[in-house]
Amino acid sequence: MEQSDEIVLVGYGNMGFALLEGWVARAGIPANLINVVEPAETLRRRAATAGAQVYADASGLPQTLRPRAVIVAVKPQIVGAMLGAYRRFAGTAVFVSIAAGVPISTFEATLGDSAIVRAMPNMPASIGMGVIAAFANSYTSETQANYVTDLLAAVGNIHWLAEERLVDAATAISGSGPAYIFHFIESLEDAGVAVGLPAETAHALAKQTVNGAAALASGSSFSPAELRQQVTSPNGTTAAALEILMAEPGLADLVKRAAAAAHRRALELAATG
Ligand SMILES: NC(=O)c1ccc[n+]([C@@H]2O[C@H](COP(=O)([O-])OP(=O)(O)OC[C@H]3O[C@@H](n4cnc5c(N)ncnc54)[C@H](OP(=O)(O)O)[C@@H]3O)[C@@H](O)[C@H]2O)c1
Repeated sequence: MEQSDEIVLVGYGNMGFALLEGWVARAGIPANLINVVEPAETLRRRAATAGAQVYADASGLPQTLRPRAVIVAVKPQIVGAMLGAYRRFAGTAVFVSIAAGVPISTFEATLGDSAIVRAMPNMPASIGMGVIAAFANSYTSETQANYVTDLLAAVGNIHWLAEERLVDAATAISGSGPAYIFHFIESLEDAGVAVGLPAETAHALAKQTVNGAAALASGSSFSPAELRQQVTSPNGTTAAALEILMAEPGLADLVKRAAAAAHRRALELAATG
């Protein structure tokens, strides 16, 4: 039996939902080629409404199924126990795991010499604006890596990493990063209230400032440092604020320490996972 263009998506929680939506809406993948395995009935119903084939567990998947990819989108602590049920796809399908902190060795222990990609997406994937850091093991062919690039591009920009250990480093930056930015918005909002703005206005100004600045930085040919200099006139208001933010130790040091803590935790989780 030849391999088909079918996909098995294991787990239809937040990320599974974002992936399926991206594949159908942005990658043009017909929903009926997607086989969702999800124990929760309400989530299964949601996947069926989107047009996918749904199964409560792996035993329901058709015996004739030869998917091109098996996407593992369950909680990290579930991965070890669920993998055995998908062993029959090892060697033909590429396995793509988005489970945080689960090393490729966990997959190889069950699936053997199989193509496995470990990917770390982030929360904006839910609106197609994620960033995904990924590492492929040596059994992944170029064709399979290109296919995975297309699949993950439906929810964001993919960056291939040369070493698996860099997935933990990416987790500390892009994986956890959205929370840092959310906290920055909260902080800017609080600062707005402290200088006298009504809370609602402070909230709107803070949110749109981060939104506009991020869009400007990502679309500009200038570096963030150049953009910062362009809006900072000598002895002006921005310069007064940056003197505080860029003092030593300033924001850069704080962010570095925060990311280092996230990195340490990612390594701990990977070691105990
Ligand atoms: N959310 C993010 O921003 C984000 C970012 C990067 C990476 N990730 C990774 O993505 C993975 C999924 O995260 P999530 O936020 O989507 O979690 P989630 O919402 O909890 O989704 C996981 C889903 O898998 C289902 N499930 C449990 N056991 C299963 C099994 N044996 N077979 C099939 N499905 C099963 C769960 O059902 P029950 O609830 O009934 O158990 C749940 O609906 C995690 O490993 C996480 O580390 C998430």
